[in-house]
Amino acid sequence: MTDTPSADPRTDSKAAADPAAPQPLTVRAAIHAGSTSALQIQQVQVAAPGPGQVRIRLGASGICGSDRHVLDGDWTLPQPTVMGHEGAGVVEAVGEGVTELTTGDHVVMTWFYPCLHCAACREGRTWVCTGSRADECLLPDGTTAVSQNNRPVYPYLAVGSMAEYTVVPAQAAIKIPKDVPFDVAALIGCSVATGFGAVVNDAEVKPGRSAVVIGAGGVGLCIIMGLALAGAQPIIAVDVHEQSLDLAERFGATHLVNSRGRSTEDLADEVRRITGEGADYAFEAIGRAETIQQMPALLRLGGTAVVVGLPPQDSPIGLDLLSFAESGQRLLGSNYGSTVPARDFPMLAGLYRTGQLPIDQLITQRHSLDEVNTAFDQMRSGARGRSVIVY
Ligand SMILES: NC(=O)c1ccc[n+]([C@@H]2O[C@H](COP(=O)([O-])OP(=O)(O)OC[C@H]3O[C@@H](n4cnc5c(N)ncnc54)[C@H](O)[C@@H]3O)[C@@H](O)[C@H]2O)c1
Ligand SMILES: [Zn+2]
Ligand SMILES: [Zn+2]
Repeated sequence: MTDTPSADPRTDSKAAADPAAPQPLTVRAAIHAGSTSALQIQQVQVAAPGPGQVRIRLGASGICGSDRHVLDGDWTLPQPTVMGHEGAGVVEAVGEGVTELTTGDHVVMTWFYPCLHCAACREGRTWVCTGSRADECLLPDGTTAVSQNNRPVYPYLAVGSMAEYTVVPAQAAIKIPKDVPFDVAALIGCSVATGFGAVVNDAEVKPGRSAVVIGAGGVGLCIIMGLALAGAQPIIAVDVHEQSLDLAERFGATHLVNSRGRSTEDLADEVRRITGEGADYAFEAIGRAETIQQMPALLRLGGTAVVVGLPPQDSPIGLDLLSFAESGQRLLGSNYGSTVPARDFPMLAGLYRTGQLPIDQLITQRHSLDEVNTAFDQMRSGARGRSVIVY
């Protein structure tokens, strides 16, 4: 990162000019700073929304494996950071020029949205947009609306949902029906979009195709839900925790394999026993080089391995290139399920409302913001399903 934004100066001048304009707020947030994995609940200032921005009062924030990677030092981010990127809430204030949203709207936040200007966007490939600054934890104009004693604080992936309020560009807040509960809506913003999109947008799984999913946590269970809806079968869930496998069965897995202590050969034999020749698709949803590397062995000739789990920075894998090429297999990277948020979030909310995506059943724990470290500790110990912070 080359630029160091200061706390946003527009807030004070705007408030002085128009007393009815939204004021900056002092709110509580889960802050990551230094090398400790423990978050601290601290007060931060959240500016009024600038032009094209909205301020959101959070209703819920999911606890995603990607937040855990950051806390555990797997990836480097600007600090201090407000964690959380899987959030939903209510539009509390709108900035100048925002026409598509109004105060009181219920929204899901997205950590990736198309700029509509870069080459990829102009080609219609908005899911590989290069114009968003979300991965730098900055608003598109290079600023952050969050500060502490006039020093910048960076919202993770420009969302920062582990705070009572946040400011995002209007195009990063997708309106959804008010009858979708906030905890369900929050999950649409990462795990559901990622898992469902990996199946439907990236792998384009057709009915009757076989699939194996390694890792049945928040994201893996959404992959399984997507596979079930796409008509895949058999759907083989692989995990090291029995509780995760129990949930996998509830979401449509037809076969459950506890891989604890099993070799890749042993796992491959098991998958062949179930599928005949190996799976058409394999999805890794843990983020470990070792399990990503296992995927080609589980696939049939011409099968596709989809990397959804995100490993620590600089994690190479070993691949027998001769047999990989000769087997005609494909290795596919999957980021946010190649989601187009404005198109896909309302569709996913609709599938929840009709009962086709039972997202509410993913939620196994609800916590207050003060309990955020407990939620991460439970995730590290292999707790099943998704934990959600409710505000
Ligand atoms: N590609 C993307 O756009 C994207 C989006 C969101 C999350 N992710 C990544 O997906 C991964 C999973 O996230 P999550 O929120 O589901 O995490 P999670 O902790 O909820 O799930 C991980 C699951 O893997 C299981 N597991 C752990 N070690 C295992 C092993 N050796 N073998 C089999 N199973 C094992 C755990 O029991 C758990 O069920 C993370 O790396 C996260 O960063 C990627
Ligand atoms: Zn996530
Ligand atoms: Zn773009």
